Amino acid sequence: MKIVEPSTENIRHAAEILRNGGLIIMPTETVYGVAADMTNPEAVKKVYEVKGRPRENPLIVHIASHDQICSLVSDWNADAESLAKRFWPGPLTLVVKKSALVPSEVTAGLDTVAIRMPSHPVARMLLQTAGVPIVAPSANRFMQLSATRADHVDPQLAEKVELILDGGPCQVGLESTVVNCSQEPPIILRPGGVTRAEIQAAIKMPLGALPPGGPKRSPGMYPRHYAPKSPVILVELLEPGQTGLTFEDSGGPEQIRMPLDPIAYGATLYDALHTLDQTEPEAIFVELPPETPDWEAVLDRLKKAAGGGD
Ligand code: TXA
Ligand code: MG
Repeated sequence: MKIVEPSTENIRHAAEILRNGGLIIMPTETVYGVAADMTNPEAVKKVYEVKGRPRENPLIVHIASHDQICSLVSDWNADAESLAKRFWPGPLTLVVKKSALVPSEVTAGLDTVAIRMPSHPVARMLLQTAGVPIVAPSANRFMQLSATRADHVDPQLAEKVELILDGGPCQVGLESTVVNCSQEPPIILRPGGVTRAEIQAAIKMPLGALPPGGPKRSPGMYPRHYAPKSPVILVELLEPGQTGLTFEDSGGPEQIRMPLDPIAYGATLYDALHTLDQTEPEAIFVELPPETPDWEAVLDRLKKAAGGGD
């Protein structure tokens, strides 16, 4: 297995691989990502291939510092500036008008680019050492569960990259919040590590609403997504003997007790689903958390895992 500890030497080696057009898997504070040099269209194409990802689903560009923004962006507005200042480095992705330097392979032909500055120290050191922006979609095959630990990475995907930097369990555990800042008011395309309330406080105005069911959604938003192999079924209460996630005392090893706090829940959700999925149950039953704003990201992932959601 090519999971390696994130020593300075291994990070340097990973940066070298990236600069030579290869792929590696890196940790971030949200989830692990399949990394490639953004400036190399051939490397970017390989990312789609190894993930089995449709070409119309654009990638997130990861940067090390604010200096890198101007070469990637053609229109950086006040909302983007406030959000970047407040939340970077961290679990927030901003969609803005792209510059001509961003290859169309990265953005799936769109005129916007999604940018994020991760806070994980290994990702930061890798970005600094590589010296180029890095595309990194979540390190899972298309429609499968994201990886929040190096050993969650599917062996079929692992064999297609040159190495995996093991940065330990991801602290946030859910993907970044994606905010489209190329429109006024900005809208959340994907809830995540930074909450709607935090974003609205930073831009000092309410976010816009996604057109319900409309065609102008973020590419890559599919009803079923983030799903384990076993079907996920959302329930009020787990019954004895059912495999799944509960808020009560767990009835046995097939039941995992989850925290009643949305941040702590998000940090362990994918790990819990990976653990149960490995036992190949007929289904994974999940007790629904409260339908309140602070649970928005967790509810989004649970509903998508269950094949519903929006
Ligand atoms: O936390 C994260 O964001 C992780 C880590 C590795 O950084 N990455 C991640 O990437 O979740 P991925 O590829 O699994 O999800 C990227 C999301 C997709 O829903 C995609 O549609 C959206 O970002 N996206 C990317 N570029 C976009 C654009 N130009 N306009 C709208 N949505 C975009
Ligand atoms: Mg993903």
